[in-house]
Amino acid sequence: MHSSRFLKAIRQEPVDRPPVWVLRQAGRYDPEFQALRAQCPDFMAFCKQPELACQATLIPIKKFQFDAAIIFSDILTLPHAAGQTVHFEKGIGPILSPPIRTSADYARIGMPDMEQDLGYVGQAIRMVKPELSVPLIGFSGSPWTLACYMIEGRGKQGFKAAINATESQPKQLETLIQQLTDMVIDYLSYQAECGADCLMLFDSWASLLPPDAYRYFSLEPLKRITQTLKYKHNLPIILYARMPPLALTELNECHCDVLGLDEFQNIKNARQLLGPQITLQGNLAPQQLLTNPKNIETATLGMLKQHPEPGYIANLGHGILPETPIENLQAFVNTVQNYTP
Ligand code: CP3
Repeated sequence: MHSSRFLKAIRQEPVDRPPVWVLRQAGRYDPEFQALRAQCPDFMAFCKQPELACQATLIPIKKFQFDAAIIFSDILTLPHAAGQTVHFEKGIGPILSPPIRTSADYARIGMPDMEQDLGYVGQAIRMVKPELSVPLIGFSGSPWTLACYMIEGRGKQGFKAAINATESQPKQLETLIQQLTDMVIDYLSYQAECGADCLMLFDSWASLLPPDAYRYFSLEPLKRITQTLKYKHNLPIILYARMPPLALTELNECHCDVLGLDEFQNIKNARQLLGPQITLQGNLAPQQLLTNPKNIETATLGMLKQHPEPGYIANLGHGILPETPIENLQAFVNTVQNYTP
């Protein structure tokens, strides 16, 4: 495991080729995943069955020989464990109820007990680990991204209530973010104790805040998380922030081992800005995978050539789209797997 391509790339050691995995690699683009999902149409109930989560984690590894697995779960397991009902509705997406709006709603949020409330994630990790010959990534949403869903109660309406809370209820939001910061630390520690080899933080809604508010409500909490986890566990940490309103050099204050780049970043520029100390991951646009294998090969080679040195992990800039033809993902993977730097 220690000598896996993925962990070597994180330590910036020489590798025969860049490791590759894909955001949302266990997902709806794959008919085999869809068939497994059909066994339990309620998404949260699916996540809560370690046997199913374990199988969903393994499907893309067997199919594509990815260099890393990510535990099948969701960032919204944490709000659920903290006291909100979480439900996924077809065509609407996640619904969290009640949304956090009043003082009473804020007061209702409590610290979950890991074994009791999120033990299903730990069980899935323990179950899948012996089946894997590649490292396993555990993950969480960032406090800000989780707060977006928790305050809004929905996932697709622009998160106006969450953005407003930074102005209209800053003290309450700050308390919520602090609670979430503690929860995320506990949750990722728990995943590490259960066997995760690497931890990943998703700040998917970084773009919603102006720079100063982003620093206060998102970056500073992320720094506390990464510093605490580094102290408690000696595991690599990946930070993925989508369209961050701050420069990558500022995100680098978190001292993560890997920075996940979205498709709007340029890998070469990122390397120049950040210097040699951090591994970069990304960042082919998921829409590229809707084109055709020839096109994908050219785009992927273009991406790989931006980073010829070790310290790079090939991935998409965001989650693979459900409508992606499987042969197009195969073309992306083949291009990386046949590449000699
Ligand atoms: O393969 C993997 O990447 C591991 C599993 C994983 C899922 N969600 C499974 C999932 C991971 C890492 C996530 C992270 C996640 N979940 C994020 C952060 C990454 C990002 O995309 O920015 C966010 C914001 C969520 C919240 C969430 N969960 C949304 C917005 C949705 C889509 C809702 C919809 O209807 O379109 C989900 C559902 C979800 N999570 C699916 C999967 C495979 C699809 C639902 C299904 O299978 O029915």
